Amino acid sequence: MILVTGGAGFIGANFVLDWLAGNAEPVVNLDKLTYAGNAENLSALQGDKRHVFVQGDIGNYALVAKLLAEHKPRAIVHFAAESHVDRSIHSPDAFIETNVMGTFRLLEAALAYWRELQGEASGAFRFLHVSTDEVYGSLGPTEPAFTENHPHQPNSPYSASKAAADHLVRAYHHTYGLPVLTTHCSNNYGPYHFPEKLIPLMIVNALAGKALPVYGDGLQIRDWLYVTDHCAAIRRVLQAGRVGEAYNIGGNNERANIELVKAICALLDKERPLAGGKSYAQQITHVTDRPGHDRRYAINAGKIARELGWKPTETFETGLRKTVDWVLKNPQWIANVQSGAYREWIKKNYLGQVA
Ligand code: NAD
Ligand code: DAU
Repeated sequence: MILVTGGAGFIGANFVLDWLAGNAEPVVNLDKLTYAGNAENLSALQGDKRHVFVQGDIGNYALVAKLLAEHKPRAIVHFAAESHVDRSIHSPDAFIETNVMGTFRLLEAALAYWRELQGEASGAFRFLHVSTDEVYGSLGPTEPAFTENHPHQPNSPYSASKAAADHLVRAYHHTYGLPVLTTHCSNNYGPYHFPEKLIPLMIVNALAGKALPVYGDGLQIRDWLYVTDHCAAIRRVLQAGRVGEAYNIGGNNERANIELVKAICALLDKERPLAGGKSYAQQITHVTDRPGHDRRYAINAGKIARELGWKPTETFETGLRKTVDWVLKNPQWIANVQSGAYREWIKKNYLGQVA
């Protein structure tokens, strides 16, 4: 079996669902269920004995050690993190606690467990750390896309905390020999995406007749990847990645934010036309920019393609259509995550800038 951390969040839940759809191997899913963790994402697995859900903190060494001793996983796939850049700007503490200290304690528990493994089990064990392209910093308009050799130059408290985790993971391999793998993925989108992030926020706000808050000039560029393509890449790295190596994962889909928001509006204009032939694009509102906002991310995913034969299967057009359809078909999921805590966050981040 494998141990997944953060498997009730956006990418983690997609990973667990995909894993169990194509694989008999059980999953122990350790998730603290913060505001971003949602047991409802895993409701399809109710009664499935291959899925063992444990609510708990990756920073709880005793709990992690107990889970490792009890379930004897052959791998840990580490998604758990505080993941939202804007939240890291308002309140960085939780990011240091979970992304740095939590990863450190998880590594300690993994190392102690791995050292006790014998023979084949020891050789086969992997610690896969799910990192981000944001650790590489920001690119100029004509600079080549990030390769795995790009220096770490994080610019937000979130990316700094992920960079710190990357360094710890690397050091546990270099110093202690722990068999680690690291992946750096670009922006994901798809089902179960929490509506504080750009794509689901825009769809949800558009449908609710609210403003679509585009930071600054909206010309910042992100490189979008459909979440199930990310999950497939992680499975492939786990299966055949070279120990100690990092792999970039990306969709080769660079889009300026404003272009993306307009594409969402155009899709909604077709799927849920407004009265009087109006467009959702009329709801676009430019608001104060994110402090320290990275201008451009772009991923060179050549290494994973060459070495492991992974390529994305969704285009941006097919992925975006699926994402919009998923939101339209799941109003109850959206309503359930828009709890009181969510409303407080929207008030705090947009400070009366949007209706
Ligand atoms: P998310 O915020 O949707 O989910 C994070 C999950 O981790 C939640 O279920 C939460 O409850 C859990 N968690 C948080 N703190 C925890 C703790 N201390 N102990 C146990 N569980 C805890 O995040 P996501 O978007 O699914 O991202 C998953 C991972 O992928 C993160 O490590 C993130 O840095 C990385 N990543 C995300 C993207 C993206 O576009 N979303 C891109 C590249 C990399
Ligand atoms: O690049 C990978 C990263 O992508 C992950 O490591 C992070 O966990 C994930 O949250 C994501 O970070 P971003 O900051 O790129 O994603 P977000 O959806 O918050 O913002 C995408 C872009 O849209 C960014 O340029 C900021 C902008 N934006 C975002 C929001 C929420 C807006 O213009 N308006 C908004 O209201």
